Amino acid sequence: EKGGYDHFMLKEIAEQPRAVADTLLGRVGADGLLTLDEMRLSDQELRDINKIIVVACGTSYHAGLIAKYAIEHWAGIPCEVELASEFRYRDPILTRDTLVVVISQSGETMDTLMAVRHAREQRSRVLAICNVNGSTIPRESDAVLYTHAGPEVAVASTKAFLTQLVACYLVALYFAQVRGTKFGDEISQIIAELAETPSRIEEVLETMEPVRELARSLADERCVLFLGRHVGFPVALEGALKLKELAYMHAEGFAAGELKHGPIALIDEGLPVVVVVPSPLGQRVTHEKIVSNIQEIRARGAKTIVIAEEGDSTVEPYADALIRVPAVPTLLQPLVATVPLQVFACELATAKGHDVDQPRNLAKSVTVE
Ligand code: M6R
Repeated sequence: EKGGYDHFMLKEIAEQPRAVADTLLGRVGADGLLTLDEMRLSDQELRDINKIIVVACGTSYHAGLIAKYAIEHWAGIPCEVELASEFRYRDPILTRDTLVVVISQSGETMDTLMAVRHAREQRSRVLAICNVNGSTIPRESDAVLYTHAGPEVAVASTKAFLTQLVACYLVALYFAQVRGTKFGDEISQIIAELAETPSRIEEVLETMEPVRELARSLADERCVLFLGRHVGFPVALEGALKLKELAYMHAEGFAAGELKHGPIALIDEGLPVVVVVPSPLGQRVTHEKIVSNIQEIRARGAKTIVIAEEGDSTVEPYADALIRVPAVPTLLQPLVATVPLQVFACELATAKGHDVDQPRNLAKSVTVE
């Protein structure tokens, strides 16, 4: 049932183009706009929402962090993102006009379920983004937007993450559509770009051999750092989480802008640092800043592993290893930039002889708080 792959994780990484396409399926009308009846809120109710709080754990939380950029940029609604285990034990200010979006692959994560209950007790509306039909979280939520990743068996989440991102983009765009914060043709344009991402992901998958080779060469390292900005920051966090889970290595993701506020002290001769570079066109300012970060860490001895858009030549002189991803609109970059990090972690763990599908101490769904 691994379909010829050595591990479920590899199979699930390979299934990502299809998973992304399936999650879009049936949600776009002939006019190129969204039909998301699943939201189960009237247009007036959608217009009345004045705050969105996204709540999740682990990889799903990273999807939430990316959702914030899309929701604020496209829909213009204030958005907070919080770990379910923290949300639950503070006193979040929730009203009927707050939409709580919970993200959970399994639909059974206890911390996230408790957050659903906490939000509903305070009369907030809860929308679940979930991959498992009929699981507990969607059953207890007001509405559900299913991701269509298909069963995810490997403990480390891969295809579920990419489809969660798609669902988050759809929610953000739907709000923009209903509230009129973007024109219809801008929305259909973004949706068309989204519909192109399965083939972009396919392209990434076809160029992974150098990434595997690189991963194997780093199997004896003790620590890897990950840096990113804007939506590349949660991608860095996700890259680090994958490496912790699978390779049992110390891996840490930072916002590149924070470097000088502390983390740069960690940079030492030969330390591998993965940098997710924003698009030079879509993110001109942050792009410039991150290129100087790469120079700074390299001058201090870091081995720079740079993930950059095709055609971005500015990074070439400072990259010890360069991983190319296709150019896509800035907010969609995580759909392509995460993939090499999944492959990297999987290969490195395999090189160390670890069980990538069943890493030590971890369970697929965490049903205790
Ligand atoms: O099923 P959920 O999405 O609620 O699970 C949340 C986390 O437990 C999960 O994403 C975990 O971090 C994965 N092992 C990450 O690879």
